[in-house]
Formats: sequence, C-alpha cells, structure tokens
Amino acid sequence: MAGDRKVELSEALALGPGWRHACHALLYAPDPRKLFGRIPIRFAVLMQMRFDGRLGFPGGFVDAQDCSLEDGLNRELREELGDAVSAFRVERSDYRSSHLAANQRVVAHFYAKRLTAEQLQAVEARAPQAKDHGLEVLGLVRVPLYILRDGVGGLPTFVENTFIGDAREQLLDALQDLELMDPGIISNLKIPASK
Ligand code: GTP
Ligand code: MN
Ligand code: MN
Ligand code: MN
Ligand code: MN
Ligand code: MN
Repeated sequence: MAGDRKVELSEALALGPGWRHACHALLYAPDPRKLFGRIPIRFAVLMQMRFDGRLGFPGGFVDAQDCSLEDGLNRELREELGDAVSAFRVERSDYRSSHLAANQRVVAHFYAKRLTAEQLQAVEARAPQAKDHGLEVLGLVRVPLYILRDGVGGLPTFVENTFIGDAREQLLDALQDLELMDPGIISNLKIPASK
C-alpha cells in the first residue's frame, strides 16, 4: 500500500503505546502433483478471502490477553483456521518482516511456516468449522504458483486481485525468498499494480 514502510522488528517493538500490532502467516506445504498432468503445482500456499472482499493471510491483531506476538498470532490462527492448527506453532524463528501502516498506526508482522502436506490438508479440512468461518473469513484459497501458456493465467492473474495492506508484497517476497518459484518470474510481477 502506498506510504507503507518496511521496518526492522526491533524498531517496530520500540514504537510504544498508540501503535497496534498485527501478525499474519503464510502457511505452505509441498505438493508433488501436476495440473492437467503437466504443470507442476510445486507447493500449496494458503491465503484467505476476507470479510471485506480482499485477499490476505490468516492472523490478526495482537491483544492485551496475548503474552507475545506469537501467542497472538497462534490464537488468531486458531480462530480463523480452526483446531487443526494445534498440530504446530508459528514461532519467532518463522518471522520474516514488519510493515508500518502509518495512517492507521498499525504495524503488521509477517511470518511463513512450512507444514507437511498432511498438516496443511488438515487445516483446509477443518477450516469450515473454525469460529470465524463465514464471518471474518469467507474461505481459504491456494495460490497458483505457475504461469499458463497464455502468459497471464495462474500467478500473474492471481496477483491482479485486491489485497489487504501489504499482503501482495508479502506474498511475492516470500515466494522469492523461500524459493517456491523461479526468481525471474517474481521480479517481473513485483512492478506494483496501477490501481
Ligand atoms: P478483528 O478480530 O475483527 O479485529 O480482526 P483481526 O484481529 O483478525 O485483524 P485483521 O486480520 O483484519 O488484521 C489486522 C490489521 O492488519 C488490519 O489493519 C489489516 O489492515 C491488516 N492486515 C490484515 N491482513 C493482512 C495481511 O495479510 N497482510 C498485512 N500486511 N496486513 C494485513
Ligand atoms: Mn476438470
Ligand atoms: Mn481474526
Ligand atoms: Mn484476521
Ligand atoms: Mn482479532
Ligand atoms: Mn476477531
């Protein structure tokens, strides 16, 4: 989002009262299958359709009840994704970046965690029973990590959706840095959508 700024975690933690902290996570797992028998799926990467019609990652605001950023994140994952998330925990070692949304006095922290295929499938299977399903969360989606023969179908078309906050940049950075896709493909997509 225009005007947002990437900050170090130490700088974000020193912001003081008046700033709210939010944490979101990219959950992914390997998927060896091929679409139409020829296009490698490579990984299942989860995002969600939010109540506001935008795509984002599961997670949310860290509250007074939470003892740490990660306590807040794991509580939100439980609310939004259901009880299959109790099979793992997103930790500080999964932390990737922080962005300031200065106009809202919110700092959004981002995490990425690799799951087993079975853990990720269990999250998808249980998500319709989550507390916030049908309320804050309208459904999970997998991100297409390929480009079809027409040159636009797949990831290029997916990133033309509307995303909350810095979620689009978080997605593309993670796909590049975690080597979930060919880096050349990602740098072409990083040119901000003119919206
Ligand atoms: P409530 O329980 O209704 O308060 O929602 P929540 O706690 O689940 O909060 P939410 O997930 O909406 O996120 C809190 C803040 O982070 C909001 O200011 C959003 O704009 C922002 N936000 C939400 N999702 C993402 C995301 O995927 N990436 C980034 N960077 N920011 C996000
Ligand atoms: Mn078919
Ligand atoms: Mn929530
Ligand atoms: Mn949320
Ligand atoms: Mn919340
Ligand atoms: Mn809530």
